[in-house]
Amino acid sequence: MRSKVVESLANEGFLLDQEAEEFIMSQTAPLQFARRAISQLPYQPLVVTMRDLRTVVRVGALGDMAPSTEPPSIRRMGEVEVLKDVTSHTDCLASVEGFARYFQDRFASLRSLLLRRRDMAGALSIQRALDPHKLRGDGEVRIIGMVNEVRGTRGGEMVIDIEDGTGRCTVLVPKEHQAAKGSVLPDEVIGVVGKLARKDSKMILKELVRPDVPFSSGMECSDSTARVAFMSDVHVGSNTFLEGRWREMISWLREEAEGLDLRYIVIPGDCVDGVGIFPGQEEELVIEDVLDQYQALAEYLKDVPDDIRIVMQPGNHDMVRPAEPQPALCGEVAKLFDSNVMQVGNPAYLRIEGRTILSYHGKSFDDLVSGIKGLSYSEPLKAMEEMLKRRHLAPTYGGKTPFAPERKDYLVIDEVPDIFVTGHVHGAGVSFYNGVRLINASTWQDQTSYQRRLNFVPKPAKLILVHLGNGKPSIADF
Ligand SMILES: [Fe+2]
Ligand SMILES: [Fe+2]
Repeated sequence: MRSKVVESLANEGFLLDQEAEEFIMSQTAPLQFARRAISQLPYQPLVVTMRDLRTVVRVGALGDMAPSTEPPSIRRMGEVEVLKDVTSHTDCLASVEGFARYFQDRFASLRSLLLRRRDMAGALSIQRALDPHKLRGDGEVRIIGMVNEVRGTRGGEMVIDIEDGTGRCTVLVPKEHQAAKGSVLPDEVIGVVGKLARKDSKMILKELVRPDVPFSSGMECSDSTARVAFMSDVHVGSNTFLEGRWREMISWLREEAEGLDLRYIVIPGDCVDGVGIFPGQEEELVIEDVLDQYQALAEYLKDVPDDIRIVMQPGNHDMVRPAEPQPALCGEVAKLFDSNVMQVGNPAYLRIEGRTILSYHGKSFDDLVSGIKGLSYSEPLKAMEEMLKRRHLAPTYGGKTPFAPERKDYLVIDEVPDIFVTGHVHGAGVSFYNGVRLINASTWQDQTSYQRRLNFVPKPAKLILVHLGNGKPSIADF
């Protein structure tokens, strides 16, 4: 029965990962169930994972699932759609099992992205790869694993321990290999092509493969004439909020927005300064109550022309749980804002006039700059490339980025966006990576005493705009 189901689906062009296979086989009519579920997917995966199935099935009272008859709920404000965020989907299990479930989902998602790559075709499970009876003549194997530990040897080699749920494997990276000069992060999911040393089951790395985003030349022109503006880290409530420059920007908007067809503003987090975010913060606040800070921001945003739709996302200074993914601001906070302001979670996939925008505040920059050689706070766009290469917004657990163990990992970059925007570092910049427009949105906060101690000079008061028809960016400086 099992092999018939697997074979029939394979003939129709769908392979199943282990978890999806088990789940499908537990249904009363597995083949019919699988066909129905797959037909409801908005895309055609080569390898169907549990993550794919969960997008179209719902959990029953006893944990059983059935293909959903309801369409996935999409929040929308005019032309702005939230394609994916954790808001109202939170399903967090704060226990060891919850974290295990979370990492299994991350692994399955990233593994399926790696399996779509030509260079990882035929990848084996670690258990099979290590089976001496299955070893091919030249001993070369391909495996996919989550990084458990990375260490260096005295001789300058890199040693990576990876695991995949079936077993563990130690991968040795020779010191002259390009990969030994780069950085491999704990908990990232990598593909490894290498040779197995018969005597000790270690693998010698030949090629390290990351899921990455496929090369593309970027957005194809559409007939949209609209522009979207990105402004981050407003930090209302702080004594370093640049009110004067904010007002200059508002008057510019009132004069220029119509001519530029500027119809949308996205704010990727740290909308207010918050309270109790860092020791001694109260000395740097001009508004000490967080609700009053949001009230003040709501007033500032009333000056934005009414026909501009504003998408607001929380960051690590905002009044939602700090653990990522963060749900949207809601309740009494959300009520303070006019109807042209939409609250979304962090991260969030948005669709605006046919363009997919991935917006993420960027707390994980704090871990990436210390974990990846050559990165620094002054070059956040490079850190964003590293996220895209790993197809994950915050690869490492246990650092400065807190995680909530959701059933599904919202930090996986499963869809390649047209625009990827972050904030958090108070820089400002635009670049392009394999067809994705990268934006690090500027702040409206002047240098803080903390930044002064670190000798960090922010780049405040810039509005980065992108034309949604041709993808061209521009910067307005205030
Ligand atoms: Fe900030
Ligand atoms: Fe931040």
